[in-house]
Amino acid sequence: MAITFYEKNRLFKLDTPNASYLFAVGEGNYLLHVYYGAYFPDTAIAPMVFRSDYASFSPDAAGAPEAHFSLDVSMAEVSGNGVGDYRLSTVVLRYPDGTDATDLRYVSHRILPGKPALEALPHIYLQSEEDADTLEITMQDPATGVKFLLYYTVFRNLDVMVRSLRVVNDTDKTVWIEKAHSLCCDFPENNFDLIHLYGKWAKERSVQRLPLMQGIQSAASKRGASSHFHNPFLCLARKETGEENGECFGFNLIYSGNFSADAEADGYGGTRVSVGINPVDFGWQLLPGDSFQAPECVMVYSAEGLGAMSRTFHRLYRKHLIRGAWQYRKRPLLLNSWEGCYFRFDEEKILQLAKDAKELGMEMLVLDDGWFGHRDDDTTSLGDWFVNEKKLKGGLAPLVKKINDLGLQFGIWFEPEMISPDSELYRAHPDWCVQIRGREKSLGRNQYVIDMTRADVRDNLFMQMKQVLDSCPIAYVKWDFNRNLTEPASLALPPERQKEFFHRFILGTYELQERLLQEYPDLLLENCAGGGGRFDAGMLYYSPQIWCSDNTDPIERLSIQFGTSLCYPPSSMGAHVSTSRRTGYDTKAAVALWGTFGYELDTAELSDEEKEIVKQQVAFYHQTYDTIHNGDLYRLIAPEDNGFTCAWNFVSEDKKSALLTVVIMRRREFQTLIVRLRGLQADALYRCSATGQTYTGAFLMGAGINFSDSDMNSDGKSAVLYFEQID
Ligand code: DGJ
Repeated sequence: MAITFYEKNRLFKLDTPNASYLFAVGEGNYLLHVYYGAYFPDTAIAPMVFRSDYASFSPDAAGAPEAHFSLDVSMAEVSGNGVGDYRLSTVVLRYPDGTDATDLRYVSHRILPGKPALEALPHIYLQSEEDADTLEITMQDPATGVKFLLYYTVFRNLDVMVRSLRVVNDTDKTVWIEKAHSLCCDFPENNFDLIHLYGKWAKERSVQRLPLMQGIQSAASKRGASSHFHNPFLCLARKETGEENGECFGFNLIYSGNFSADAEADGYGGTRVSVGINPVDFGWQLLPGDSFQAPECVMVYSAEGLGAMSRTFHRLYRKHLIRGAWQYRKRPLLLNSWEGCYFRFDEEKILQLAKDAKELGMEMLVLDDGWFGHRDDDTTSLGDWFVNEKKLKGGLAPLVKKINDLGLQFGIWFEPEMISPDSELYRAHPDWCVQIRGREKSLGRNQYVIDMTRADVRDNLFMQMKQVLDSCPIAYVKWDFNRNLTEPASLALPPERQKEFFHRFILGTYELQERLLQEYPDLLLENCAGGGGRFDAGMLYYSPQIWCSDNTDPIERLSIQFGTSLCYPPSSMGAHVSTSRRTGYDTKAAVALWGTFGYELDTAELSDEEKEIVKQQVAFYHQTYDTIHNGDLYRLIAPEDNGFTCAWNFVSEDKKSALLTVVIMRRREFQTLIVRLRGLQADALYRCSATGQTYTGAFLMGAGINFSDSDMNSDGKSAVLYFEQID
């Protein structure tokens, strides 16, 4: 059993293979955090209950005057508001009398086998009840009677815990939630480094590692999407922690809307991590009898560096978040029309792409933006999801039939959450777009956002998409989202519920994606948001792959893919070979192989020699697919490590194969370059498929491969070596 409750000292002990997490019911029934770190079997924890010395500015806890302890200096499992803990609150409620003190006390608990599912929100699921157990703790505010349920799902074979919180109003008065974060995790020290992922359009999820400073540091979004700028991921690492050594704690919210992931180093030397829906622009009216479920937050522990933390996230997401027909099915190698054609195509051009794609060995043709309404540029037609017959005469069905007859599958692009002012839909339903009455609406990429909080809007979008998807065999949908929200309100919501708008918006998006998947269980969905503007665990629940970035330059892509891999599996990263500048097709493919792999270019511009190269790449993709998609990633040299080389290797789950990639970002004169692989079986013999040379795993991991004398030393060069075990 991964969860134990010790009655005598009212202690909870949650164990994963390498980590223990302890907390206790303290004086006044406050829930006090005790420990999170390396696993130990002992339970004699009394001396571990940390309490700093404090002075008069830290008030005594109201529920425990004799015990003379202060919430201000104690570690908490959940933190209320206005009752003596001045650090980040987990939950803040406002009551009918206008006050917002929120006090949470332990009432009872249950240990449940397996894990309860979450309604309407993306969540971690189990393959079998044996995978994990769940602790449910009921807490209550003694003054108001409002209840709070804390959930801890504890995995038996992965160093993973999943936390969430539910607010239950079984009082007879309406209350308003002003903040409902998903977890609070306290540490007794604050000499950590804080790692998070930041960026912008075309430079998403770069890694930033800085010493944790006094005060609150926050990664957050209030854009209506998790965004290009910050990601709902945070990691606390010990100072000495590196890629392969040292302790670190990763936190990732399973959510695609506004979030905040905060770390606070306090004056007494402790740290609090608090992650959840961004309280800015959030509020929720909770009527008597209603409850509110906050999204799940995943916690990963690693004692073996950032690499092991990432591999745990990857396994968890591949096996317990991504789902459906495409979870393990081999994804089709596709040619996407966007970078090759943009809006300039007709039936003939698409057919030419399809014929070339087939000849080159690809498996699917994806028709990107521009096929609907009267869309010839980005100023029109979003919302009019019917075929632009000026471009595609006779509609989609005959075109798709010809493509299918070639032996290729067909995929198509939608941007359902958007509406162009120049569209039939907008003219018919101007009230369907996100807006505040009496306020001018801001355009973004010439478009407005459609009101996903409304069921009638979602029904209309579903019916329009259904008409297209039923009109011919469509195996894949790319779901795009090309601007952030402004004037965030719904004409359909009453004033007292307008603060619910952002959360209701993303719930609406989730609902529509779920409905599509229920209707078309074989559909492969790829999410996208102007590149990687919504690359998060919430989206992975609906789509096993997400377009990683609009930046397809292979050198620029390195830091984007390395950063993304801190938390998200390579098999989920949309990555294509394109005509972008700088390197040859070999390096473009070397980098795109890290992810889903595909092409995004005008095949008519490829020379015969380049076509031969593409054919070889396609064959290599099939040979290495399993090692990459179902294997483990080892980041060997990160782009920022030395500024000129970057290297990584994949190892299959059974360690029978490995793929090593080395990229020279910038040439250096007389530079020794030895790359040592990781994660192999030391005593096994591996043969390199390119050279036929055999090596032991120990040699490859110890002596490594020497690239110093090769012809590698020029800008943008790369090497990709595939190794297979021989008996
Ligand atoms: C942004 C996406 O990231 C691109 O791949 C492409 O689909 C365009 N939108 C189309 O407008």
